[in-house]
Amino acid sequence: MATLLLFFVFLNLDLLLRTGHCRETRDQILSITPKTQEHVDILRNVSTQYETALWQPVSPQYIKEETQVHLFVPANSSETVKNLLQRHAVTHEVLLANANELIEMQTRNDSTDPRSGSTFYERYHSLEDIYYWINRTAHDNPNTVKVILVGSSYEKRPLYALKLSFNNRTNKKAMWIDCGIHAREWVSPAFCLWFVHYSLSFYNINQDITHILDNMDVYVLPVLNPDGYKYSWTSNRMWRKNRSISKTTSCIGVDLNRNFDANWCTEGASHNPCTEIYCGMFPESEPESQAVANFLRSHKDTVQLYLSIHSYSQMLLFPYSCTLEEAENHRDLLEMAQEAAQKIRRYYRNTYRYGAGAKTIYLAPGGSDDWAYNLGIKYSFTFELQDRGRYGFLLPPSHISGACNEALIAVKTIALKVIEKT
Ligand code: ARG
Ligand code: ZN
Repeated sequence: MATLLLFFVFLNLDLLLRTGHCRETRDQILSITPKTQEHVDILRNVSTQYETALWQPVSPQYIKEETQVHLFVPANSSETVKNLLQRHAVTHEVLLANANELIEMQTRNDSTDPRSGSTFYERYHSLEDIYYWINRTAHDNPNTVKVILVGSSYEKRPLYALKLSFNNRTNKKAMWIDCGIHAREWVSPAFCLWFVHYSLSFYNINQDITHILDNMDVYVLPVLNPDGYKYSWTSNRMWRKNRSISKTTSCIGVDLNRNFDANWCTEGASHNPCTEIYCGMFPESEPESQAVANFLRSHKDTVQLYLSIHSYSQMLLFPYSCTLEEAENHRDLLEMAQEAAQKIRRYYRNTYRYGAGAKTIYLAPGGSDDWAYNLGIKYSFTFELQDRGRYGFLLPPSHISGACNEALIAVKTIALKVIEKT
C-alpha cells in the first residue's frame, strides 16, 4: 500500500515537473510564415493584442501570406501566444530559444575607457559611454576631430556629431553618416564608432579611406535617438521610436524615420501614436529630426553624400521610399549600391539586397534619406546591416566586427564613386 502511495506521489510530482517545464522562463524569437489569410489575421492579432514585439515586418499591416514574420515573445506571454498559434494550427519555428542570454551578453563588459584594449569597438556601449567616447576621441585628436552640438533630444540630451577633417582644402565636400535613429538597432551606433576609429587609424595607411578623407569632411552622428537608445538599455530592449509624450494618448514615441518632410504620413506611416510607425504631429515635430534637418539645410552646399545606418536585414537602399516613382539619378544610385553589394559578396561572402526603398522593402514615407535627397543631396542611402534574422536586433558582440567591416567597404565604395562623379 505504502509503495503504491509513493508511486502516485512520484507520478504526480513528475507531472508537476513536466508541466512546470512547459512554462517558458525565457524570452524567445519565433519565425512564423502565415499560409492563409486566416493565419495573417491571427498574427496581426497576436502582435497587437499580446505583449510581444514585432521584429519583421515593422508593422502588423505588412504581414502577408508566405512571408516570414519574426516575433519577439517575452517569457510571460510565451505560453498564451504558443497556445493560440497551436489552436489555429499556425506552425512556428523558434529562431532564438533564449533571448535573455543574448541580451545579457550584449550589456556585459561595458567598459568606459576607449583605450581598455582592442575589443572596445567589438562591444556595445551604453549612451553614457558613447558620450564619454565622443569627448575622448575629440580630445585625443585635436587637429582632425571636432565635436558639434547639432541639437538636443526630447528629454534634453545633447545630439553630438563628430566632424572629421584632415585638411583645409577650399571647396571641400562632405558626407554625413547618422546612426541609431532606431533605438533597438544597436549595431548601428557601433558602426559609427567603428567608422570613426577606422578613419583615424587608417588615414595614410589604407588608400581608399585616405582618398576619401583627403577629398571630403565627414560628419558622424553616433546616436540620433539618445532617449530611445538609453531606454533600450534600461527598460525595453525592443524600443524603436524616440520617447516623446503625446497629449492625446499614453502611448509614447514617434518613429523618427517617419517624421521627415517627404510625403509625410502617407501610406506606410501611421497617425496612431500607439504604432511603431507613428509619424508624429507634423513633419519635424520631433527635436531629433528637426536638429538633423536644420544641420543638413545649413550644410547642403557641401554635403554630397547622406548615409543613415540601420539594422537588420542586409540591404542597401536609396530613394525613393516615400513613393514608387524612380529617383532622377536612379541608374547612378543603383550602380553604386550594386557595386557595394558585389564588394561585400566578394570579400565577406555575404549577401546584401539593394534597390529603391519602396520597391525593395515597402512604402515608408517621412524617411531621412528621401528628405535629404529632395533637399539636393543626390547621393542618399539607408543601410540595413546584419543580420537577416538569426539574431535580428540581438546581434551578438562577436558579430560586430564582421558587420561593421562589410558596411565599411560599402561606405568606401560609394564615397569613392561620389568623389569620382562630382
Ligand atoms: N527599415 C527602415 C525603416 O522602416 C527602412 C528605411 C528606408 N528608408 C525610408 N525612407 N523608409 O525606417
Ligand atoms: Zn531602423
